[in-house]
Amino acid sequence: MFISFEGIDGSGKSTQLGLLRTWLEQRGYRIVTVREPGATHLSESIREILLSNKQSITPTAELLLFSAARTHLVETVIRPALERSEVVLCDRFVDSTTAYQGYGRQLDLREVDLCNSLATHGVMPSVTFFIDVPYEEAQLRMQFHASPTEPDRMERSGRDFFERVRDGYLAIAEGDPQRFVIVNGVQDRDRIHAEIVAHMEERLG
Ligand SMILES: Nc1ncnc2c1ncn2[C@@H]1O[C@H](COP(=O)(O)OP(=O)(O)OP(=O)(O)O)[C@@H](O)[C@H]1O
Ligand SMILES: [Mg+2]
Repeated sequence: MFISFEGIDGSGKSTQLGLLRTWLEQRGYRIVTVREPGATHLSESIREILLSNKQSITPTAELLLFSAARTHLVETVIRPALERSEVVLCDRFVDSTTAYQGYGRQLDLREVDLCNSLATHGVMPSVTFFIDVPYEEAQLRMQFHASPTEPDRMERSGRDFFERVRDGYLAIAEGDPQRFVIVNGVQDRDRIHAEIVAHMEERLG
């Protein structure tokens, strides 16, 4: 089973992924956790380029770099884990590209889709949890983080960009309601986890 977490920066994806990981482990599932971009040597190197503030990157170059990191991750980690019948938990996947590069950077959505299908070879999550949090709330969470870091290149994109990204996620959800689960992220983390667990119980049967 392949599960991904989506949402704008600071929405609580990694927190919820960690809680679900523990829940699944306690039920005896073998789990592989990956983050995007990253999780392989090559993809972590591409992540450094993408998040660095040292240089600007044109939107199409950004799309192709994210896609290159993803395809390497799919081929070397995600697909093999799924073939071993392990559960893959992914911190961001292909919907991030549709939301950020498609809606956020306003690239042609057909070109983004083409890149996405090339990068995934049809390997898609069966469930995607979208942690929906307004921009201001996500900003606050990142500021009050125990060890705040300087905003990275993507995080510097500003309010209008993140509003478009959020609208993008909602458009994806509308187009794929079977896979996409919208979770209200402005709740206590345990409440959000309980909602996610309820969905998982339904799907696992
Ligand atoms: N439900 C919640 N309520 C309040 N704060 C939260 C909640 N969930 C997570 N946080 C806090 O908000 C911050 C961001 O959470 P987290 O790192 O999980 O988000 P993220 O979506 O993974 O962020 P990024 O996109 O930067 O990786 C952390 O400091 C975390 O402890
Ligand atoms: Mg995170």
